[in-house]
Amino acid sequence: MPFDAFHDWCSLVERDLDPGAEMLHFLRQEVPGATSVDPWQVEAITSDAQTVALLVCRQAGKSCVLATRGVRELKNGGTTICLAPAERQTREITRKVQHYLRATDLVVERATQTEIECSNGGRFIAVPASGATIRGYSADLLLVDEMAYLPGANGGEDVVVALLPMLKDNGQTFYASTPAGKNNLFANLFLEPKDNVHRIKVPGTSIPRLASRVERLRSQLSATRFRQEVMCEFLSDGLSYFDLATIENATSTTEGAVCPRI
Ligand SMILES: Nc1ncnc2c1ncn2[C@@H]1O[C@H](COP(=O)(O)OP(=O)(O)O)[C@@H](O)[C@H]1O
Ligand SMILES: [Mg+2]
Repeated sequence: MPFDAFHDWCSLVERDLDPGAEMLHFLRQEVPGATSVDPWQVEAITSDAQTVALLVCRQAGKSCVLATRGVRELKNGGTTICLAPAERQTREITRKVQHYLRATDLVVERATQTEIECSNGGRFIAVPASGATIRGYSADLLLVDEMAYLPGANGGEDVVVALLPMLKDNGQTFYASTPAGKNNLFANLFLEPKDNVHRIKVPGTSIPRLASRVERLRSQLSATRFRQEVMCEFLSDGLSYFDLATIENATSTTEGAVCPRI
């Protein structure tokens, strides 16, 4: 075997044995300079918990984790249903999966902006929470992206509950989001934790490759927004009009407070 071919064969074996190496190979399809996969990303894609909940800073790589997990399921010939708040997001994540698939030897038989079918029987179907309803699937994997932003009654509960019966008994669910207030199903996963959920919390300040972006956001966002979007805190209302610090000051016990605390 010529040396180049041997090198390619070794890389292929490495990716088959090491999910982190495989994800890095996928990531390089969109970020050619990517040097490593974050430890939390490896923890997520290798988790065998029935439910995995990712509470992660904005733009940290949540959708990349979901797309990677989707491709791994396609390789197994399984069916994935991916739910996102809006149609634009379903198209985005499907595009990511299609991108990553180019780095595999899977043969795509049919692809639309929101669906992919491979020759081994694997299927990836992305559905928006707004409007579309799907029935009749038997899914191995359920991915919910930007879960805290799901529209509808009970903070997204109705739409997720409608999909859960389609998941096989041994299927796996991934919930990923940045927080958006306390009154939604995603917040419940962390504020009223249940035993069988693998929870992963990653504030932006704990990801070294995001250091300069985090500092920029610290100066650009209000303190409340920063705590929510970067530090992943569940604040009373993700869309509250006043900055929480302003409310805190206005109601403080100090002299001059607009509304002194009693
Ligand atoms: N480990 C990593 N190293 C370098 N770039 C990464 C890594 N993980 C994700 N990215 C890049 O970060 C950007 C945001 O990723 P994305 O998954 O869309 O974030 P999120 O869904 O958390 O907002 C993308 O361009 C993606 O390629
Ligand atoms: Mg995303």
